[in-house]
Amino acid sequence: MSFYDHDELTKWGFRKLGSNVLISRRASFHGIQRISIGNNVRIDDFCVLSAGEEGISIGSHVHIAVFVSLIGAAKITIGDFAGLSGRSSIYSSSDDFSGHFLTGPTVPPNYTNVISRPVNIGRHAVVGAGAVVLPGVSIAEGAAIGALSVVNRDCDPFIIYAGTPARPLKSRDRHLLDLEMSLRASEPTNPNQ
Ligand SMILES: CC(C)(COP(=O)(O)OP(=O)(O)OC[C@H]1O[C@@H](n2cnc3c(N)ncnc32)[C@H](O)[C@@H]1OP(=O)(O)O)[C@@H](O)C(=O)NCCC(=O)NCCS
Repeated sequence: MSFYDHDELTKWGFRKLGSNVLISRRASFHGIQRISIGNNVRIDDFCVLSAGEEGISIGSHVHIAVFVSLIGAAKITIGDFAGLSGRSSIYSSSDDFSGHFLTGPTVPPNYTNVISRPVNIGRHAVVGAGAVVLPGVSIAEGAAIGALSVVNRDCDPFIIYAGTPARPLKSRDRHLLDLEMSLRASEPTNPNQ
């Protein structure tokens, strides 16, 4: 994979850009001045990050895998150590599918009823391949979402969810928090953190 170098990224005008950020040359960004990225982040090929009015905030040690999209007018927040697997889709805005309105960006807004609500993916949360996260959802710290799930409700901390719609399956071990402490202790202090 070919990544931009840091000097190139600093010219783009991110709201915030940390250190050791790897962004594929095949990823695309919209509303870049409303996107914040922490340290040690990797964004892979064919990702689309489209930040609306409230922006996108990505923490540190976050991996966004191939073909992931983050789209919507309301705020999207991705916590430290979270991961978005390939082809997962995070929406903070959605059209109204009820039939009472037209849909899509090609018709005037007074014919549509777009719903926008913030999405929060907590620290250490992982979203499985192909999962869809809908507007207004908050995935708490350490929750995990199975592949191809549709997440339409909030998820509790350190629970594994799967299915359409996503339902709780089992608890998730908290040992990863010990590993985080150990990793942080080994990292050099970053003055920007
Ligand atoms: C959700 C997940 C973590 C559960 O794994 P697990 O703990 O080994 O659980 P199991 O395979 O024993 O499955 C438990 C139950 O959940 C069901 N299940 C598992 N994954 C599911 C999924 N994605 N959607 C719907 N049901 C699922 C299983 O069929 C099983 O049901 P049963 O008890 O009726 O037989 C895993 O299946 C998964 O989806 N991982 C995503 C991995 C991924 O996307 N990786 C991308 C690269 S990082």
